[in-house]
Amino acid sequence: MTKEQTYQSLLPQIEALVAGETDLIANMANVSAVLHEAFGFWWTGFYRVEHNAQDTTTMGELVLSPFQGPIACTRIPYGRGVCGTAWQQAQSVVVPDVHAFAGHIACSSASNSEIVVPVIRNGEVIAVLDIDSTEFGTFDDTDRRYLEQIAFLLARTNT
Ligand code: SME
Repeated sequence: MTKEQTYQSLLPQIEALVAGETDLIANMANVSAVLHEAFGFWWTGFYRVEHNAQDTTTMGELVLSPFQGPIACTRIPYGRGVCGTAWQQAQSVVVPDVHAFAGHIACSSASNSEIVVPVIRNGEVIAVLDIDSTEFGTFDDTDRRYLEQIAFLLARTNT
């Protein structure tokens, strides 16, 4: 099966999974499990945007959320690393070689390439989907397109 075919078969499954559940964290947990199992990635998971109600002058930070894989950094500031950059730009970031990405946050030395896709609700980034691979150049425009569709399905979750 090509990568495209795998994503094609996953999309309706993910749509059905998240349609029956309104809790965002529960849906993040299942979506990370589905993707991780299907592709055998090194790390597949989410960081949620947490705003600081006490300090509205800052954007807040990303907080580790449901994931599959080894332990990871728990908090990432706005604009930092690949995740913080995708949040700041409200755009997906595809990194073929993480060692060449200035400011990359190495949660694991085994990771060599990465993709981060923002989860956007009402024009606001509420989380990011982060996937790491031990191979270089794992992610391309096909991954970006499908993962953005998956992030869109997830963003419709109620809470
Ligand atoms: N590498 C990410 C940090 C998260 S871990 O990869 C799970 C980054 O640079 O934002």
